[in-house]
Amino acid sequence: MYGRPATSAELPQQAPSHLPAQPQEAQQSDAQAPQPAQQIRRPRRITVRTLRRMKANREKITMLTAYDAPFASLLDRSGIEMLLVGDSLGMVIQGEANTLSVTMDQMVYHTRCVSRNAQRAMVVGDMPFMSYQVSPEQALTNAGRLVQEGGAHAVKLEGGADVAPAIRKIVNAGIPVVGHLGLTPQSVHAMGGFVIQGRKPEQAEQIKQDALLLQEAGACCLVLEGIPSALAAEITQLLDIPTVGIGAGDGCDGQVLVTHDMLGLNTEFVPSFVKQYSRLHALIEQAVQQYISEVKQSIFPEEEHSYD
Ligand code: KIV
Repeated sequence: MYGRPATSAELPQQAPSHLPAQPQEAQQSDAQAPQPAQQIRRPRRITVRTLRRMKANREKITMLTAYDAPFASLLDRSGIEMLLVGDSLGMVIQGEANTLSVTMDQMVYHTRCVSRNAQRAMVVGDMPFMSYQVSPEQALTNAGRLVQEGGAHAVKLEGGADVAPAIRKIVNAGIPVVGHLGLTPQSVHAMGGFVIQGRKPEQAEQIKQDALLLQEAGACCLVLEGIPSALAAEITQLLDIPTVGIGAGDGCDGQVLVTHDMLGLNTEFVPSFVKQYSRLHALIEQAVQQYISEVKQSIFPEEEHSYD
């Protein structure tokens, strides 16, 4: 184990977000106030060293996407090791058909929302389309923004040999980089859709060579998306750095999913590689319908929800 999920008792308690907070003195007497020796200990942060150790110890790495404060906090408290502020927010949050319209400013904004609310997880900020392809200098400038303004602990970018110089430049500046190979959504038009990659032998060989190249360029971790399980397992064996798979089988060092998919917040298409661990959309619809009904019937608010 590398640290452990924080319990709610260990984390700073927050006032409900929509109401003015009660003054601190009104909430606790002097006797209850934390003494210096008992002060809240923050859980130990997951770092690149933790990831390396986890691979060496064959401990699976867990990653989920987060785009905002409440999810960052919930997933972090639940013990997730890596939070990816993915450019998938273009589809998940903005309702676009793909990720191509997501901008650097949007990524910085969402990365900030997440990093401010994750105490333990390593926060990875995704580099959006055209934020790193122009030159290694452009890539470094934008990676720097995700760290400096967004509070990311690492950045992620898609591609193989073509992006290796950009990865080298970013890593040399002290910023950990997560690579991303296989089905790379920013190349949706070049791939002719969101299509599984690496089924043909020459394509599989290319992905393997790219994986080795990204490791050599200094990547700390690789996301392998939408490739056959056997290929992902082979790459995982080849590399010293950990792989995190999505639609890439169980041979990777870890797994990543889009949180909204795995919690069943989407009512539409669910890709076959997604396991829905909940059906939150049904719970939300039921809660909202009850709220509507109670307001209409003057059941809510009751006295306990009202001020004197
Ligand atoms: O943008 C994203 O969320 C991703 C994951 C799906 C790996 O790249």
